[in-house]
Amino acid sequence: MSRDWNLDGRVVVNWKTCEWRPYPALDGGETGLMWRPVRATPGPGDGTYLLKVAPGGRAKLHVHGGREEFVVLEGELVDGDGEVLAEGDVVSYEPGTRHRTTCPRGCTLMVWIESPIAAVEGDDEIEAMRAGRRIVNWKTADYERYPSLPETADPIDWRNVRANPETGEGLSLISFPPGAGSALHEHTGWEEFVVLKGTLTDPDGATYETGDVVSLPPGSIHASRSETGCVTAVVIEKPLRTLA
Ligand SMILES: [Fe+2]
Ligand SMILES: [Fe+2]
Repeated sequence: MSRDWNLDGRVVVNWKTCEWRPYPALDGGETGLMWRPVRATPGPGDGTYLLKVAPGGRAKLHVHGGREEFVVLEGELVDGDGEVLAEGDVVSYEPGTRHRTTCPRGCTLMVWIESPIAAVEGDDEIEAMRAGRRIVNWKTADYERYPSLPETADPIDWRNVRANPETGEGLSLISFPPGAGSALHEHTGWEEFVVLKGTLTDPDGATYETGDVVSLPPGSIHASRSETGCVTAVVIEKPLRTLA
């Protein structure tokens, strides 16, 4: 049987075992930050990466040119309005968010940032930040049937965070019951996810463990299956196309 999948260019990094590097300075006076790039882009602060903040670390006031989205993998982060973003929280900010964060106890984040960050002077824009911030905790969220699957596919659950239900585009949580698999599909943009619980196996036999961050470039074709059941947080950059 000929191969009907394409996973060329895939990158897998596990946040529990990866090596951390100093985070490139934004010249905003940020402290205590280490990172592990997964898909680094040239703009400051831009791309997909893991971020580890030491206890007492902080990001001073900065503005985002595009969306900022992250999962709190461990620890907690305090946003500019005092909101505590706790372990398990999946957070999405609208483009243009201007805020600062502190991290009294330390934390590790999986981060997707779609445009460069710039350090700025002045005050937080608290009301705008609150209005443009969504928070869903993957451990306590309600899930429903994934809405855009072909009728022949196994049932898979999801929780929309900031996604288009027709195309899958955006940020969502996806929960595979044990033994369920997705239909074969092609990504027209990047798909990048973190396995929060359980394992997930791709058609080349690669099994992603809990803690793995997986980056699949545009043109990737696959159908994933979970023997154990799993939960992932995923950003799908552009619409996906079901092939079967
Ligand atoms: Fe930010
Ligand atoms: Fe996919």
